[in-house]
Amino acid sequence: MTSTMVRTATLPGSALEGSRLPMDDVSFVHQPVLLKEAIDALAVRPGGRYVDCTVGGGGHAEAILQDCLPGGHLIAIDADPAALDSALARLDRFQDSLTLVHGSYADLGEVLHRHQFGPVDGIIFDLGLSSLQLEASGRGFSFRREEPLDMRFDATTPGPTAATIINRSSEQELVRLLRTYGEERRSRAIAKALVENRPFKSAAHLAQVVTRRIGPSRGGIHPATRTFQALRIAVNGELNNLRSGLQQAVSALKPGGRLVVISYHSLEDRIVKETFRTESQDCICPPELVQCICDHQARLSTIHRKVITPTVQEKVRNPRSRSARMRAAQHIKAWST
Ligand SMILES: C[S@@+](CC[C@H](N)C(=O)[O-])C[C@H]1O[C@@H](n2cnc3c(N)ncnc32)[C@H](O)[C@@H]1O
Repeated sequence: MTSTMVRTATLPGSALEGSRLPMDDVSFVHQPVLLKEAIDALAVRPGGRYVDCTVGGGGHAEAILQDCLPGGHLIAIDADPAALDSALARLDRFQDSLTLVHGSYADLGEVLHRHQFGPVDGIIFDLGLSSLQLEASGRGFSFRREEPLDMRFDATTPGPTAATIINRSSEQELVRLLRTYGEERRSRAIAKALVENRPFKSAAHLAQVVTRRIGPSRGGIHPATRTFQALRIAVNGELNNLRSGLQQAVSALKPGGRLVVISYHSLEDRIVKETFRTESQDCICPPELVQCICDHQARLSTIHRKVITPTVQEKVRNPRSRSARMRAAQHIKAWST
């Protein structure tokens, strides 16, 4: 693949400082998913305070900034310093209304406290990874690339890489990981192949071994999709981060504030759905209890009756949107610290 390398902006001290981004190769440009639907659900208004927990290439952030001016402000977080670079390149003109933060949305409460930014009018999570990470991060997210199997969103953290997990885990641990985080039905066969073919150095090698063991793609989905998903979730602690980030987000909203979450696989969507369900109930006691002992109070009211998915046109225009599912809710109680 050929690409013209253009560098448009950098964050001081970021991972890509002094390097160049392939910003004008269309396969690297991240097209925001469910953009209109997400911005409508956030009900962005001039003067409002918003948080983008996963700024990525800045597509959703740009639309929020356009609608919250004059007077509004956006805090935009990403775990990946390179994503912040590409977001800054896109959002440069909004600098006075934008605070970019390198960190995890699992620390959302602390980020908002540090910036004295709360309560807020709207928060968005667009989960998963961006096209830039998939195609140009060099961290082994793509099946096709001879890249080191890293898969950390934030490579400045000391956590284990995907290669460490595959090369050091027992076969039983790999079976469990593939089942739990990949919902992979062929987990035993794949785990055996992984152990037999260690050590793994590249993403392409991993994809080849899985394909050889369980056969070619079914229904247009690459056979290693669930293996890659499982490893990425394990490396980044994605499910625990999401549970924690959502709780902190609900606590940070103003009455009437909106929470919008776009997820890309059933494990993420289940957590979002469950959080919204629990936070919409006044009592969460087990049904067998005659009297409520939980003192739980509903804080959310869901906005749509059904999950929102991309239109056929969006899926054709942007195939990476095809598994997206969006849920949105509104805060219904007075905000308290
Ligand atoms: C699908 S992309 C977001 C794309 C963005 N909405 C846009 O329009 O360009 C998801 C982003 O979430 C980031 N991310 C993943 N886990 C994170 C976490 N725990 N905290 C903050 N950002 C995270 C990834 O680094 C990635 O840049």
